[in-house]
Amino acid sequence: MSAPDSFTFLINPRHGTPGVAVLPNRGFVRAKEAITGWPGYAPTPLRDLPDIARDTGVAALRLKDEGPRFGLGSFKALGGAYAVSKLLAAELSHQGIARSATSADLADGQHAASTSQITVTCATDGNHGRSVAWGAQRFHCRCVIFVHETVSQGRVDAIAQFGAQVIRVPGNYDDAVREAESQARRNGWLVVSDTSYPGYTEVPRDVMQGYRLMADEAADQWAGPPPTHVFMQAGVGGAAAAISVQLRCRFDPAPLLIVVEPQNAACLLASAKAGTPTVVHGDLETIMAGLACGEPSLLAWQELERATFAFMSVPDEAAARALRRLADSGIAIGESGVAGLAGLTLAAHDPATRTALQLTGASRVLLFGTEGITDPDVYHKLFHSRRS
Ligand SMILES: Cc1ncc(COP(=O)(O)O)c(C=O)c1O
Repeated sequence: MSAPDSFTFLINPRHGTPGVAVLPNRGFVRAKEAITGWPGYAPTPLRDLPDIARDTGVAALRLKDEGPRFGLGSFKALGGAYAVSKLLAAELSHQGIARSATSADLADGQHAASTSQITVTCATDGNHGRSVAWGAQRFHCRCVIFVHETVSQGRVDAIAQFGAQVIRVPGNYDDAVREAESQARRNGWLVVSDTSYPGYTEVPRDVMQGYRLMADEAADQWAGPPPTHVFMQAGVGGAAAAISVQLRCRFDPAPLLIVVEPQNAACLLASAKAGTPTVVHGDLETIMAGLACGEPSLLAWQELERATFAFMSVPDEAAARALRRLADSGIAIGESGVAGLAGLTLAAHDPATRTALQLTGASRVLLFGTEGITDPDVYHKLFHSRRS
């Protein structure tokens, strides 16, 4: 077992090198137009954290609180559901039923007779599946979601409430991804994955275009001199890549991006070390369930390999402490949403890392609290497990 405060970081040797544009702007314009038109849309709050800014020795610290997002509890509501609408529209066009159905047309049930014959599927550790199931219900299609063995019952129930069939499979998240794909092939279902790989990039690209809205709102809400740093948690890296692209569009210079992963599932850090997308094996066990991914998303890697300033991995205990610290400030962010703060806290208190990351008393840091209390049992257990 590692010491509670041990962490790893790597200054990215390829930071700033040129590369491909993985998320063209016109795709974001379409995603923003669709999502902001959905009933219940409202920007989530950007919260000021002056006490934690003082503790970590920076000038300003603000956290985008994704807890209230569409009543689903996480930023993932922006991605999976949007990708479901895009996939259904493409399928209707392919079948010659409607050339360009909008998500409003689909939500109105204009093509329900056809969409109700279509099944969407994905693997999830909770939040993505909840978004896909919600999107399937909203856009009138069927939905089957695969979860691996350690996904909590609370998360399964939260998906099933949207009418999806939830199937539990042995192994870890990556095993569930493979099972979703093979069942989809067998049954003619459409895969709505939040991770991309060679030959499968269009749907995860739509997912990531949806995520960009979170960073776009944060940029709208940010007052005063721009952020200098963003500490962002990553699983397969899609969310970090999306905010990287959007913050670069909105701020010049873009803030330095520090990607933070759990120690047992740090596939992006491993990829940066190896200089190529790299899989980490094992049970990927971590309390940060949404970040327990062993394989980077190809599209995400193409952005992050050159846009990330540094990669970090943090222990579970640091995440639990960050969760409690935010709770003490009256902000409820779940275990997968606090890794950025855990990374900032560890870096800020370690003089060498602080210097390497250019953190100073003048720094202005942006964090994304990517989920609220998405699993109350897990949250309360962590909240009450205070160390002396
Ligand atoms: C709350 C939360 N934050 C961050 C992430 C990481 O997103 P990605 O896998 O795109 O890196 C996830 C993924 O499930 C998540 O649930």
